[in-house]
Amino acid sequence: MSIFNKLIVATIPAVPRPVVRYFASRYIAGDRLEDAVRVVKQLNAQKVLATVDVLGEDIYRSEEAAAARDNILELLNSISRERLDANISIKLTQLGLKLDKEFCLENVRAILRLAKVLSNFVRIDMEDSSCTDDTIWVYRQIRKEFSNSGIVLQAKLRRTEDDAISMMRDGMNGFRLCKGIYIEPERIAYTDHGQINQNFQRVLEVMFKQKAYVGIATHDDVLVDAACKLIDKYKLQKNEYEFQMLLGVRPELCTKLHRDGHRVRIYVPFGKHWYQYSIRRFKENPQIAGYVFKALFSRNQLN
Ligand code: FDA
Repeated sequence: MSIFNKLIVATIPAVPRPVVRYFASRYIAGDRLEDAVRVVKQLNAQKVLATVDVLGEDIYRSEEAAAARDNILELLNSISRERLDANISIKLTQLGLKLDKEFCLENVRAILRLAKVLSNFVRIDMEDSSCTDDTIWVYRQIRKEFSNSGIVLQAKLRRTEDDAISMMRDGMNGFRLCKGIYIEPERIAYTDHGQINQNFQRVLEVMFKQKAYVGIATHDDVLVDAACKLIDKYKLQKNEYEFQMLLGVRPELCTKLHRDGHRVRIYVPFGKHWYQYSIRRFKENPQIAGYVFKALFSRNQLN
């Protein structure tokens, strides 16, 4: 990100929430479950798959975690009732990871139990590096009981190749590979764009070699091209991998990948806790400066 964009991002907390919400709306289905259902139906009508996320993270009270779990159970029931072609993504800090990992594990078990009954799949998102060990621990416990589960690994982290190899050795083969959004210290993470991309390609190849099913989660043309070359190299069938993208980011790339015959899944977040997720998306948006300026000028209209 340019220094100018960094400066602009630093001003976002001063932007009124309704304005942030307005510009964040491209990234979020809406506040309610019905909003997510509507967006997924639109994607499915174009033969694009979805993974739905109930927004929320970093809760510190067990009642909040239980409420989040219940909302996720309701989401699973809706996906089934509405016959959506969608699975779900969950964040463990929303389910109590930072309170007590055993309590979190119980919440995840409840979700996986229902997902299994409904023949659905649950992906555990990866949060910042303070959560990596515990997230992998929860996933390892869950995976012993439920094969309908997968995890996210971040190419940015130096440990990721070892994590992938160790999990694949233990029979785990459902990954989403992304760059990683959280700012991490150089000691544990690649901070250079080129190095992150190199590691992404290295880990993806390690996964393909072991015949893992990978959700290739990126909007970066360089990585999409590299992934396509690896798909050819390992002669993968269309049902042996998928591309994954975020709602509102590079929809033209989604259309192209889909047109080229690849399976594409869109991450569809919804819910009341949209602020933190939206700020992360703003930080990645190369047009962020323009947006914020626009926001400041149209402030009166939106307030
Ligand atoms: P990069 O950031 O270089 O973007 C490539 C291009 O895409 C940009 O040049 C721009 O054109 C466009 N672009 C990217 N973001 C944009 C935005 N917000 N608005 C407009 N244009 C944008 N991370 C994590 O740490 N844990 C997780 O569990 C997940 N889960 C996840 C699921 C899915 C389906 C995706 C696609 C991504 C994630 N991520 C994630 C986020 C991921 O780690 C990463 O931060 C983003 O995908 C951005 O990285 P890219 O690979 O797209 O490259």
